Amino acid sequence: MPEPVSFQAPKGTFDVLPPDSAAYQRLIAIFAGLVGRAGYGLVLSPMFEDLGVFQRVGESTDVVRKEMYDFTDKAGRHLALRPEGTASVVRAFVEHRPPAPFKAWYAAPSFRYEAPQAGRYRQHHQLGIEALGTEDPALDVEVVGLLHAFFVAVGLKRVELHLNSLGDEVCRPPYRALLEAYLAGRADELCDEHRTHYAVNPLRVLDCKRTACIAATEGAPFQVDHLCDPCAGHFARVRHGLGTLGVEAIVDRRLVRGLDYYTRTTFEFAATALDSAQNAVGGGGRYGGLAEALGGPPTPGIGFGCGIERVLLACRAEHLDVVGPGPIDVFVVDTTGGDAALALTHELRAASIGADRAWDDRSFKAQFKAADRSGARLAVIVGSDEVARGVVAVKDLRAQAEQAEVARGEIVSHVKERLG
Ligand code: HAM
Repeated sequence: MPEPVSFQAPKGTFDVLPPDSAAYQRLIAIFAGLVGRAGYGLVLSPMFEDLGVFQRVGESTDVVRKEMYDFTDKAGRHLALRPEGTASVVRAFVEHRPPAPFKAWYAAPSFRYEAPQAGRYRQHHQLGIEALGTEDPALDVEVVGLLHAFFVAVGLKRVELHLNSLGDEVCRPPYRALLEAYLAGRADELCDEHRTHYAVNPLRVLDCKRTACIAATEGAPFQVDHLCDPCAGHFARVRHGLGTLGVEAIVDRRLVRGLDYYTRTTFEFAATALDSAQNAVGGGGRYGGLAEALGGPPTPGIGFGCGIERVLLACRAEHLDVVGPGPIDVFVVDTTGGDAALALTHELRAASIGADRAWDDRSFKAQFKAADRSGARLAVIVGSDEVARGVVAVKDLRAQAEQAEVARGEIVSHVKERLG
């Protein structure tokens, strides 16, 4: 018996159809323009990699331990769908060794086997950048500043920047030991999960949202207060740089993030209009050891990922319309059989004017309905009378205005003038 097939998008995934997809297009366009103007180039990388590539983002993280979509291909290779963008870009950097600093951006679907809920999906789409090859704190400021500028460009008002430093290979180990000793003394006060597992990754306990862990860690030591001098200097310069840009940052000593590769600067933008469980609209930080872990020379890097779906939820919560007018400017209504519509749409499109038409020789009324639905500003109308007189009629679909009559040969310049 063949297994029953579900002809629906898999659990935790969804289709994005027009007109909703226009919001994705618009966010990607804003992002591409913004980071492109800062010298970041597009990177396309495979949607799956050797499982080991993604395991390098942190063996003790949920992303690796519980959420990976891994599989064996027909040749027995153990592969996984990309859960995030950084590992792929760093793997590509190590493989191809482009000149540093290497500044890359991506718009990539990412896959995590999570319990689906609003703002948390099994396939989500990330806009991200990665910059490799320098430890300069001014680069941290550029990276954080670009994500901030993106939210400003989108129009979001209620977004908060949380900033922390997780130290490096010098100051993290002694701090971790200090924290572990603190947690050992309070293990029975921790939540069920962390009571037995706090030692796997003690830093994660600081990020736990359960009241038991929050209360038990009230007096815990925090990494940002235990940085070595170079890390403390780096953090001070990042804060100073953000101040120079006018980007307000809240130092959040509990900010740990869900991936293990972070060193020094970490940050997250929270959309306060959203429910706090899923309000991270983007986050990232520095990673000192990832290139080496992926077989390359030691190369510092920094970047962020920003979830398109979360940004759209935040826009909706702030009553922001991300999508402006659609791409169709003109709808051609042709009651002479369709040849006029064929020629007119062709001419208008060649002049970079968005143009659409109806099909199947529909009635005048049906074509007008389609014109309204298309979002076009103008209808260009052609009937046998117009053809005989060598003219077309132009009607404004959004404003009350007299219908104009234009010589057929002048339609492109007339439409351009009307659209401004
Ligand atoms: P992340 O915080 O795991 O970081 O994900 C980045 C963003 O993707 C989140 O802030 C959130 O907006 C969105 N996101 C994550 N998981 C989901 C989900 N299941 N459903 C919907 N949206 C989601 C990273 O992935 C790092 N690679 C960021 C980075 C780049 N760090 C350095 N470079």
